[in-house]
Amino acid sequence: MSTRGKPRVLLMHPFLEPGPTILNEAAEVVTYPPGQPLDEASIRQAAEGCVGIVSQLMDPIRETVLSTPGLKAVSNVAVGFDNIDVAAATANKVMITNTPGVLDDATADFAFTLLMTAARRIVEADSFTRSGQFRGWAIDMMLGADIFGATLGIIGIGRIGRGVAHRAKGFNMRVLYYDPYPLPPEAEQSLGATRVDLNRLLAESDFISVHTPLTQDTQHLLSTPQFTAMKRTAILVNTSRGPVVDEAALVQALQAKLIAGAGMDVYEREPAVHPGLLAMPNVVLAPHIASATVRTRSEMSAMAARNMATAVRGGRPPNLVNPEVKK
Ligand code: DGY
Repeated sequence: MSTRGKPRVLLMHPFLEPGPTILNEAAEVVTYPPGQPLDEASIRQAAEGCVGIVSQLMDPIRETVLSTPGLKAVSNVAVGFDNIDVAAATANKVMITNTPGVLDDATADFAFTLLMTAARRIVEADSFTRSGQFRGWAIDMMLGADIFGATLGIIGIGRIGRGVAHRAKGFNMRVLYYDPYPLPPEAEQSLGATRVDLNRLLAESDFISVHTPLTQDTQHLLSTPQFTAMKRTAILVNTSRGPVVDEAALVQALQAKLIAGAGMDVYEREPAVHPGLLAMPNVVLAPHIASATVRTRSEMSAMAARNMATAVRGGRPPNLVNPEVKK
């Protein structure tokens, strides 16, 4: 508790309005020292005396941080929370919250954008045109892959995966999905999506879009055997978490032409990008911006602030990922 009576909350990084306004009403906000490294010991030091931390996906929030005396809640400004050790949080009775739902459309839009950009070689075409290499129409110039009517394989059919399937309907795509949990039959029917095993999805898809959270089960879900099983013409899109894809194996697969291209928004060791990917014209690279629209990032900020405000007022935050902490 601070001397001014409001509970103290550590804000790890700036976030967007109305997040700061909502948070300031509920708490005395302490900002993480700019330039301070994002390691657990430094975060723990900054969190001393705070009941809450508003974190982002680059912040490692594990036992060292979660055992800070008096810490009650961590509000992650993201839907993913693989940067947080939820089991350690639960053991320390710390509530963890995330921002589900508000970023589904922006992320599904972006997955489709990467798919189309890679398929139709937009980045290459833009550089080609800007650099003055366009000297006349040619029948074989910048040939790409057809999207309309192609087969799309979706790995992980949660809200964002379903959003991608929904968009695929407009392109008359055949949609296959792989997920341990089947959709209800009426959802499969309305999305025109067929559940298959991973091998079939890999073998039959022209485009593969990854929408699974990062867990022990999904780490390196796609590696050399999976790339080998894909069509030589396949394009992989990843807007979920980098470590779901074995990045070194992806580079090898692209170099060996086991697959045709990729559209990547996330990386195994962000912000580092494998140098092999940087060198490839058939790979479209984005800096983890799938949810980056003005409205979505503002809604994520508001939701994270509301989660923390509710927690510091003693309530049960709406987006609690470890509900067992607050019955
Ligand atoms: C998330 O929310 O988990 C995204 O990766 C960033 O919006």
